[in-house]
Amino acid sequence: MDPAESSPQWWQGVRTALTLQRRPEDRAGLLISFEGVDGSGKTTQARRLAEALRRAGWSVVLTREPGGTPLGEQFRRILLQPPPLPAAGLTPRTELLLYLADRAQHLQEVVEPALQSRQVVISDRFIDSTLAYQGVARGFGIETLIEVHQKLGLLRWPDCTILLGVDPRVGLQRKRRQAQTSGPTIPLAEWSRFEREDATFHQSVAEGYRRLAEMFPDRIVVVPADADPDAVFQRVQAALRPRFPWLLP
Ligand code: TYD
Repeated sequence: MDPAESSPQWWQGVRTALTLQRRPEDRAGLLISFEGVDGSGKTTQARRLAEALRRAGWSVVLTREPGGTPLGEQFRRILLQPPPLPAAGLTPRTELLLYLADRAQHLQEVVEPALQSRQVVISDRFIDSTLAYQGVARGFGIETLIEVHQKLGLLRWPDCTILLGVDPRVGLQRKRRQAQTSGPTIPLAEWSRFEREDATFHQSVAEGYRRLAEMFPDRIVVVPADADPDAVFQRVQAALRPRFPWLLP
């Protein structure tokens, strides 16, 4: 083997070529989103995947919604503020519009440029969060919100979505434990508006995700997340390997 063939640059070239081969029509990178109910462990798994892909030589952008841009972080603060702060008065329509505003900014400022430069984008929550939380739990409807995204030029489906499946009650218990053990960083009194919603709300978010997984079986992979983070990460990798055999070592 030519020594140059074992260099990281050579492998990067091969990977880039494979990416191009996979999507010759748009020469775009890869968008992977993580979804799940509150406390499903998305943030940990998204971070782990980003680290593993960087170690494998990929250029990775790890981002999140709401947030991911300076303006988006301001939207995030408004959206997640618990009562009795001003955001307690957000109406469902205002809430929806702020998530859409956040997505518009995130797409244009972060996601699209990174995909155009053929990077791997990993987003901790993306469109399916809006479809499950606002579409189903708030009742706007999945189809209606897909149409709204389309009309606003915001429809960019992830290439793959890892849906971490956990009972919403278990997710909230995990959150509560984190809040109690991490002292002043997440005091219970500061739980986000969503974590303070009642059990029915969280059950309908979970139902929303179940419906989305049925509607998009090729894109959404359900990964059971009722185990420790190492075991769940093994499952995440096992879910990605058959879809993108060139992605992970
Ligand atoms: P996040 O920090 O992602 O929650 P966690 O990591 O605890 O699961 O908080 C984001 C909250 O915003 C979460 O409760 C879901 C909600 N959300 C929506 O309702 N719609 C959306 O479009 C997005 C992106 C998030």
